[in-house]
This record gives sequence, C-alpha cells and structure tokens, in this order.
Amino acid sequence: MIMTKTTAHTNIALIKYWGKKDAALHLPYTDSLSLTLDGYYTTTTTHFIDAAQDEIWLDHQLADAAFAARVEKFLNLVRTLNHSQKRICVQTINHVPTAAGLASSASGFAALAGSLDKLFQMNLSKTDLSRLARRGSGSATRSIFGGFVQWHQGTDDASSFAEAIDENPNLPIRLLSVVVNNQEKKITSTKGMLQAVETSPFYAQWPQVVQTDLKSMLQALRNHDLELIGQIAEDNCLAMHALNWTSRPAFTYFTAATYQIINLVHQLRAQGYLAYYTIDAGPNVKIITSIADLAQVQARVQANFPQAQVTKLKPGPGIR
Ligand code: ADP
Ligand code: DP6
Ligand code: CO
Repeated sequence: MIMTKTTAHTNIALIKYWGKKDAALHLPYTDSLSLTLDGYYTTTTTHFIDAAQDEIWLDHQLADAAFAARVEKFLNLVRTLNHSQKRICVQTINHVPTAAGLASSASGFAALAGSLDKLFQMNLSKTDLSRLARRGSGSATRSIFGGFVQWHQGTDDASSFAEAIDENPNLPIRLLSVVVNNQEKKITSTKGMLQAVETSPFYAQWPQVVQTDLKSMLQALRNHDLELIGQIAEDNCLAMHALNWTSRPAFTYFTAATYQIINLVHQLRAQGYLAYYTIDAGPNVKIITSIADLAQVQARVQANFPQAQVTKLKPGPGIR
C-alpha cells in the first residue's frame, strides 16, 4: 500500500499573477512572488479504485459537480502522462475556506499533484512537481515550496515553474488574515483574470508594472526591509484590482468590509504600526505586519470587526 497523504500550504502573492498568455498550459503573462503560509493548508490522499468513475471527496463529503469536474480534468492529465486508465478516489480536506479568495486552489492543486506523484510513483523533482501543479491552478505552482517563492513565467510548459527564493526567511514578517466572508466567490480567479486580459485597456501596462514591482521587491527582500515589502505588496495589489475596475463590464472583489479594513490599516500606519494590506480574488484582507506589532494590530482589528475571523499567519513550509 502506497502512502499518498500529502500536505501543501496556501500562499499569498505579494506580486500578483493575474492573466494567462496560454490558458491551456496555464502560462502567465508575468512572473509573480509569494509567501507560503503556515496556518492555511490542504491535505489530500488518493488511491486507485475499481470503478467506472473517479470519486472526489471534499471535507468528508462528495464534492459538487463543478469541483469534481476540475479535479477530474487534472486526473485525466496525470493519467495521460502515465499511460493509465485507472480510476482514482481523491479525498481532500481544506484547512482554508474553499474558493473565498484565500488561495484554496493553490494548496489544493499542489497537494493533489504531490499525492498523485506518489500514487503513480513518478518521483518528480520539486521543479517538475511545480510544473505539474501549475496545470491545476496557476497559484499552485508556488505552493510546492516554502517561504518566499518566485514563479518564473517561462515561455512553454518546460520553462514555467516556481523557485524558492528563501525557504526559511529570517525576517520578522507576520500576517493577519481577516475573513469577513467565507462564502464562495461569484467570479472565479480563472474567469476574473480572463475578463481583465480581454477587456481592460490597462492590461497592456500590467507586465511592466509587475516587472518594476518585482525588481523592487527582490531588493527589499535582500535588505530585509519589511516596510518596503509591505508597501510594494500593497501597491501591486491595488494595480491588480484596478484591472478589474477597468474591465468591461467592470467588476470588483471588494465589498464594504474590504474598504473598512483598508481604512483601519491606514489608521494603524498613521499611528506608527507596521501595517500594510494585500487582497487576492475575494473580499477578505491579509494584513502584513511584524512580530513586534502583531498583538496590537490584531487587537485593533478584532475590536473593530468583532464578526471577522482573524487568523495569525507566519511563513510556512513547502509540500510534505
Ligand atoms: P481560491 O481563492 O480559493 O483559490 P479559486 O477560484 O482560485 O479560489 O479556486 C477555487 C477552486 O479551486 C475550487 O472551486 C476548486 O475547483 C479548486 N479547489 C479548491 N480546493 C481544492 C482541493 N482541496 N483540491 C482540489 N481542487 C481544489
Ligand atoms: C489574485 O491561481 O487561483 O490570487 O490559475 O485560474 O487557477 P487559476 O487562478 P489562481 O489565481 C490567483 C490569483 C491571485 C494572485 C496570485 O495568487 O498570484
Ligand atoms: Co485560486
């Protein structure tokens, strides 16, 4: 009996991936850079079954049709790579809200790729595992590695993979995840970024924005300059969300609560705390702060948003 249980953590993009130049291969228009998080993760096990159909379980329940279809597409890819026709049972547990803008697709497909690597005894290198996870969801490319990770956009399937920049960051960075809504988003990341690519007149500028921000971010990481890391992440996040505002039809993942949290972060910063925000494809905010300021920032967030689920996060490990 092969042990296929695999755990992969989500990641938060500090320099965002938002748009594919090749939708089938999940090749992005830009590089991106993320931090893998300890507190949010997915655990997945797989085994072969003697059945006509695959069987997909999410959080101990049979997955809905849309979820199952996306997983089956990935199973088909892995079967093709292994010249196999065997049906598979997937049991996955998300220790992160599913499809709520907290990167469940990143931990989900990284864990699934890792589990299938074991099931089919593929013995993939971390680089090849990163390439495989990419085919499930772009952000999963980066969740193979821990700490700070860069996804090199590449020009084809072979050259688009992530690389660890610093797996054990010696930097007092902490994050607070402020979840105001854990319901599934109406516009998936896949759909949202496609609409931005196809209709925002500003999309043409996005690759240049990312190139500039990425260069500054890599320098800030080398200098352990947490303030600058936070500032660049915040600016890059707003540039990404501006693409959605300028899509036609326009859309946004922000809600009233999102703006209220943004305002609080500005207040905290004016009062001398290290606090910046970044937001993925959902209404929930991640606050970037330091070990020194974490407790105070958390207390203020919790006092202002008693209904919000506030989770402390720190740099997390790669796939295991
Ligand atoms: P998120 O912000 O959570 O990443 P996305 O819209 O990018 O939201 O992706 C959500 C989709 O990712 C889900 O609808 C499902 O198709 C897939 N997904 C989430 N968790 C898992 C998992 N554990 N295993 C496989 N696929 C998953
Ligand atoms: C805003 O990786 O979820 O979180 O590749 O279509 O599955 P697909 O999209 P996904 O998009 C992530 C978008 C983001 C930014 C990021 O993680 O870089
Ligand atoms: Co996602």
